[in-house]
Amino acid sequence: MNWAQHKILVTGGASFIGSHLVQALVGRGAFVRVVDNLSSGKLSNLAHELSAGAIEFIEGDLREQEVARHAVEGMEYVFHLAADHGGRGYLETHQAACAGNLALDGLVFLACREAGVEKVVYASSGCVYPNFRQKHPKELVYLKEDMVGPPYDADNIYGYAKLMGELTLQIYSQAREMKAVSCRYFTAYGERCKEDHAIMAMIARAFVRQDPFEMWGTGEQIRNWTYVADIVQGTILAAEKINDGRGINLGTMERTRVIEAAQEVQRYMGYSPQIERLPNMPTGPYNRVADNTLAKHLLGWEPQVRFLEGLHRTIDWYVANHQRNEIATGLESLLNER
Ligand SMILES: NC(=O)c1ccc[n+]([C@@H]2O[C@H](COP(=O)([O-])OP(=O)(O)OC[C@H]3O[C@@H](n4cnc5c(N)ncnc54)[C@H](O)[C@@H]3O)[C@@H](O)[C@H]2O)c1
Repeated sequence: MNWAQHKILVTGGASFIGSHLVQALVGRGAFVRVVDNLSSGKLSNLAHELSAGAIEFIEGDLREQEVARHAVEGMEYVFHLAADHGGRGYLETHQAACAGNLALDGLVFLACREAGVEKVVYASSGCVYPNFRQKHPKELVYLKEDMVGPPYDADNIYGYAKLMGELTLQIYSQAREMKAVSCRYFTAYGERCKEDHAIMAMIARAFVRQDPFEMWGTGEQIRNWTYVADIVQGTILAAEKINDGRGINLGTMERTRVIEAAQEVQRYMGYSPQIERLPNMPTGPYNRVADNTLAKHLLGWEPQVRFLEGLHRTIDWYVANHQRNEIATGLESLLNER
């Protein structure tokens, strides 16, 4: 598809993933509007596009109906990434805040429907998958799209809100009111990701020389960390190729234990103190890895960046762009807030 001159809204475009997506769409020649309330996103993430006058930026809270209506006006495609979202500590301890996503998503989708937006591309999550499928780290489980169905058992209210967002879009799409696709992102990481997400927390801990080096959970949790450039590429392909409102996994099938990731962070950063495991801290499911067969088949998408390569790039970026004293002073809040 040729994106040149198409009118695109990216909600939450000042975020980690959102800013990479904006950059990719601008690079394809699209007209991009960003609406963000900067509650966790940062204008500095869009510094290049803003100073070049390459995007329109509107600061506003999309939970206000008028803001949502104004945001989608004249837009052909809406990439909806705005969400009250954070890392594992935030999701589990700020449930009331995350519940606001039910209203946020509902208002944005309604505004899109009323304005005749052609397609909505939704930033969904691996958190829609049932917890009961993800309990045992020794099982070789890969989460497949059709495992989301009754009995639902999503990951906290955050996961249920993403699930309701997906179901709303499926209904709109089946009723031929608008085209839609839900991209189920799995544990994204990369440049601009913040310390409340596990990989960045490990990097920050090594950066400030934390001793002992804390690790939430037993370390046996399995994740499929997926590099942000791959997430963005998959999202754009999904926008081009899927119309029927279905959910599709965007995640690698590489299985990495949290303890292995922590050890590699320590090795690469040349700092290897004792690791203190904290099983009572928020950990999330013990076995979360996507099956990405459907994305291969429908989108021709496959992750290009192996975990070790993406991790090393991310560490290099982090070290070059942060001040040790500032991170050390604010570490506790960086790990727990958004
Ligand atoms: N990072 C991940 O691993 C991951 C995994 C699955 C899904 N997602 C989803 O991807 C999207 C982007 O996440 P992210 O990790 O890049 O960063 P993020 O969670 O910081 O992004 C959310 C963005 O939305 C903005 N926002 C929040 N509430 C808003 C409101 N009411 N009105 C306007 N803007 C608002 C924030 O300021 C921020 O820029 C989110 O929808 C998130 O749920 C992320």
